[in-house]
Amino acid sequence: MTELSFIHRYEPATETGRPPLLLLHGTGGDENDLLGLGRMISPGAALLSPRGKILENGMPRFFRRLAEGVFDEEDVKLRAGELADFVAQARQAYGLEAPVAVGFSNGANIAAAMMMLRPEALTGAALLRAMVPLSEAPQADLAGKRVLMISGAMDPIIPAENSAQLAASLSAFGAEVQHQVLPTGHGLSQTDLQLLVRWFGGR
Ligand code: MLT
Repeated sequence: MTELSFIHRYEPATETGRPPLLLLHGTGGDENDLLGLGRMISPGAALLSPRGKILENGMPRFFRRLAEGVFDEEDVKLRAGELADFVAQARQAYGLEAPVAVGFSNGANIAAAMMMLRPEALTGAALLRAMVPLSEAPQADLAGKRVLMISGAMDPIIPAENSAQLAASLSAFGAEVQHQVLPTGHGLSQTDLQLLVRWFGGR
């Protein structure tokens, strides 16, 4: 595997015309977690899947937190920058166009932060169980970026108004946001999969 700034897995595209996917796992996951999901939701797309560098009791994450749902915001900014730099390196190493992020939980939160802080890194994002990553949303021009947010109405970690606020910020910055709230919790469901397949199918 090419030496880049994150441990990662990379699968080249087997079909043309589909944007690469940047797969971002949840807390305690790793670079292998979302490869299967990526293959299902955008068959033939290139897959780029890094492992978060922060360890919380041995569990990889993409940034530090002080408690569940309480983030170390300076670290969020630093790590979002590092991840955007990795994306740029990987695009050069593998000859890729800008990817669409597919992030779950902690991976969705770093994707949302990266989109606001380094909008050039992503062409869009599918954010699964995302919450507001920075209490003061940085101003960003997100015109032309597509975002799918899927939240759980019974998610014990993310209050409904928090995910609604993230969707509102992203659309205020110009992104084309589709926000779906499912009657489910923090875990992914079959309906998530169906919505993802449909959203990617339109590309
Ligand atoms: C986070 O830390 O990003 C959120 O609390 C979600 C999680 O990873 O549990």
